[in-house]
Formats: sequence, structure tokens, C-alpha cells
Amino acid sequence: MTEFTARIAGIGSYLPERILTNEEMSSMVDTSDSWIRERTGIRQRHIAPEGVTTADLAEQAARRALDHAGLTGEDVDLIVVATTTPDFTFPSVGTMLQARLGATKGAAFDVQAVCTGFVYALSVADNMIARGQAKTALVVGAETMSRILDWTDRTTCVLFGDGAGAMVLTGEEAGEGEQPGILGTYLRSDGRFKDLLHVDGGPSSTGTVGQLRMIGNQVFRHAVTNIAESMTTIAGRAGIGIADIDWFVPHQANQRILEGVARKLSIPTEKVISTVADHGNTSAASVPLAFDRAVQDGRIKRGDLVLMEALGGGFTWGAALARY
Ligand code: UT7
Repeated sequence: MTEFTARIAGIGSYLPERILTNEEMSSMVDTSDSWIRERTGIRQRHIAPEGVTTADLAEQAARRALDHAGLTGEDVDLIVVATTTPDFTFPSVGTMLQARLGATKGAAFDVQAVCTGFVYALSVADNMIARGQAKTALVVGAETMSRILDWTDRTTCVLFGDGAGAMVLTGEEAGEGEQPGILGTYLRSDGRFKDLLHVDGGPSSTGTVGQLRMIGNQVFRHAVTNIAESMTTIAGRAGIGIADIDWFVPHQANQRILEGVARKLSIPTEKVISTVADHGNTSAASVPLAFDRAVQDGRIKRGDLVLMEALGGGFTWGAALARY
């Protein structure tokens, strides 16, 4: 059977216009701009206005990614949306997006792995492309985290925001040498840690959407260890040294986590793409948001080796290695 490589043909992202600053947060809960900046690096977050949903954010990011790739919805035969905050219990955001983009071929569905969602979705799409099950895939991370926050809980509400990012992958016949494309993905989870980061509701338990709960300092410790492990594992499997990787695109949860991982693996901080200051933790949207920013500003160039990573509720964690 022919094996295909999934090439990154285009990338795009979208943040809603409304910005909620740390100063504004200080008038809502007992917090301060200096606490938030020192402990997290976050300066502001974007909030989707009432009536604007995850599918709306996903659509904007997807259209930008398709434009970047020079393709249209009609070319797409696979849509995988990573989200924890879908518009409805069903149908999936993926199928909603399919209809909006005029994609009528193939399949569309959602993947739920919280903040690791984009890495999981990328892995699913990469594997389907490799087996020839899809030719042109749209991989999206989109969230309206603002809808599941307890706005009276200062330990969580200052951390999250809304946004979306998307990547277009196209299947190319695998060849020899340094070809662009996804070089590998590595997925992990450990369900024993669910209480440290979870939402306390759902359709089958409470019949409500629920609100996000987190024991942040415990998640923090797991994040640094597990993320570093996933990065060394994926690089090792690809036979690539961490020092040979051009760019690191982490999940944007906390600047201190980014720096902790970089220190642990002796990575110069200039190689770590950080956008957390501008949009806080956007869960599954944060990796493609950061990736897009670095492509737009010219840091990530064609041919560069890029390592993406994340950790989220579940716990889930993982990494993806790509030659852009
Ligand atoms: O995306 C999924 C993965 N999620 C993460 O990776 C998040 C990981 N965790 C974190 O980013 C950090 O643990 C937090 C930013 C959530 C918290 O930072 P921390 O340095 O671990 O602080 P802490 O939880 O140990 O709390 C220190 C103090 C506490 O007060 P006491 O008990 O020392 O008096 C908190 O009550 O800071 C207090 N605190 C706040 N103070 C002002 C907690 N939240 C706030 C706040 N403003 N917003």
C-alpha cells in the first residue's frame, strides 16, 4: 500500500475582537495585573461576544488556513475539529464546519482531548492521510472557554480565553530525504488525574454544561514533566536531537511552564513561540494560534523543523514533529 506524507499546506487563526484586560479582571475578582503577569505571563484574553460560537471562530480560522493553502472547502475531504466547548452536544462542530465551507466529500468529526486536542486531531488526520483515507484535511482547534468558566473563581477565570486556529494538510506520496510534512505524533493520557483538571457537568451526569475546575499548582508540576517527556520521546523516535529543532510551538497555558520546559531541555527561549500574553489559555486553539503567529511574522519558514506539544485535562498530553 502506498504511504503518504501529510504536508502542512496552509495555516490560519482567529481571535474575537473583544479584549478583556488584567485590569478589568481585577474589578471582577480579587486579583491584580501584577499577580496574573508574574504567575502566568498573561496580559489579556479575547472573549467571543454573546451569540458567537465555537463554530463561528472555527470557520474564520479555517477560511484563513484554506486561503493560505490556495484551496477551498470543496477540496477538503476530512475535517477534524479539536474542541471541548462545542456549540451543541451534537452535531459536531466538524460537520457544522463542513456545511459552512461547502465541503461535501469525506468525513468530519470532533476530537475531545481538551488542551491537547489539536495534537490529537493532527495525529488522527496525519494517520488517515498516511493510509490514503483522506487527501486534503482541515485540522482545527477552536474554543469558547469563556462559556465554561466560573467567573467568580479567581484561580481559573483569569487564565482562559476564546480563539481558533486551523491547519490544512495535503497528502503527498512519501519519498526519500528531507521532505516537508508531519514526521510523527506521540499521544499519551492518564485518566487517574481527572480530578486535578475537569468540568463539573455534562449531558449524561448533571444535564448541565458545567464549569471548569483546576488545582493549578498540581497540574503545573505534571505539565513540565510530561511535556518534557513527550518532547524527548518524539524527537528520539525521529532520530532528531532537541538541539536540531528550529522552533518549539507549545500549548499556551503559562509562560512559566514554557520556561520550565525550555530550562529542563536546555532550549534557548528565542526558539520557543509564546503568545500566551496576548490570549491566555485557549485550550485546543493555542498551538495553531501560536504556529500561525510565527509563520505570519516570518519566524517559522518553509523547511524548518517544528515541535508542537501540549498537556490538558484527563490528563492528556503529547507532541507532534513537523518539517514545515
Ligand atoms: O491548559 C491545561 C493545563 N493547565 C495548566 O497548565 C495550568 C497549570 N497551572 C498554572 O498555570 C499555575 O499553577 C496557576 C497560574 C494556575 C497558579 O499559579 P501558582 O504559582 O501555581 O499559584 P498557586 O495555585 O500555588 O497559588 C498561590 C497563591 C494562593 O494564595 P495562598 O494560598 O498562597 O494565600 C492562591 O489563592 O495565589 C493565590 N491566587 C491568586 N491571587 C491573585 C490564585 N489565583 C489568584 C489570582 N489572583 N487570580
